Amino acid sequence: MALIAPSLLSADFLHLEKDCRMLNESRADWFHLDVMDGHFVPNISFGPMIVDFIRKATPKYCDVHLMIEKPEKYLDVFRKSGADNISVHIEACPDLHGTLRRIRDLGSHAGIAINPGTPVQDLAPYLQEADLICMMSVHPGFGGQAFIETTYEKIRTLKNMIQAVGANIKIEVDGGVGLQNAASIIEAGADVLVAGNSVFRATDPKAAIAALKEI
Ligand code: DX5
Ligand code: ZN
Repeated sequence: MALIAPSLLSADFLHLEKDCRMLNESRADWFHLDVMDGHFVPNISFGPMIVDFIRKATPKYCDVHLMIEKPEKYLDVFRKSGADNISVHIEACPDLHGTLRRIRDLGSHAGIAINPGTPVQDLAPYLQEADLICMMSVHPGFGGQAFIETTYEKIRTLKNMIQAVGANIKIEVDGGVGLQNAASIIEAGADVLVAGNSVFRATDPKAAIAALKEI
């Protein structure tokens, strides 16, 4: 059964506590927290202060997705804010080996996020050093975009690469995920589904989470 990680980017930030409570009561496994800096991606979302508030509002696993330049400068602060996993973009890290090591040294799980245009083969040198691959299925920056269909092939290739080296690493798929494609994404090899709009724009978000969980 796949883990479900609702993305709070699509939450109601004026009533964040309400949405956190809803997720706590739901079958969501993780909280997915999208940090954007306006440089690595064109949008700006929130930083460690909000992660810290959310951390206090949930006992669930907090999965922090850093869509920022120079993520190595902010690892300590996001770990202190309560991140259980910190994902950095392969495109943003000149020393990815060092950055992943630092994340694990801080006691966090280490994730590598990868953009739709970046070949999955670029991940090969890092598979033993990460706990999660956040496979972007939209161009990062905004919720509510359409799933890019070529992602299926990338998931399958990555799954084979992981099995070939016997690494213990989860594949998370992020962007445009909903009931219409979740089964195919899981079948391709995904372990974690991030879902923003398909959860928070649903008339019954808890039911939407439960439906994803049942797949
Ligand atoms: C996109 C973010 C995603 C996004 C997912 O840059 O990384 O986590 O919020 O939202 P939906 O599910 O609406 O595509
Ligand atoms: Zn994300």
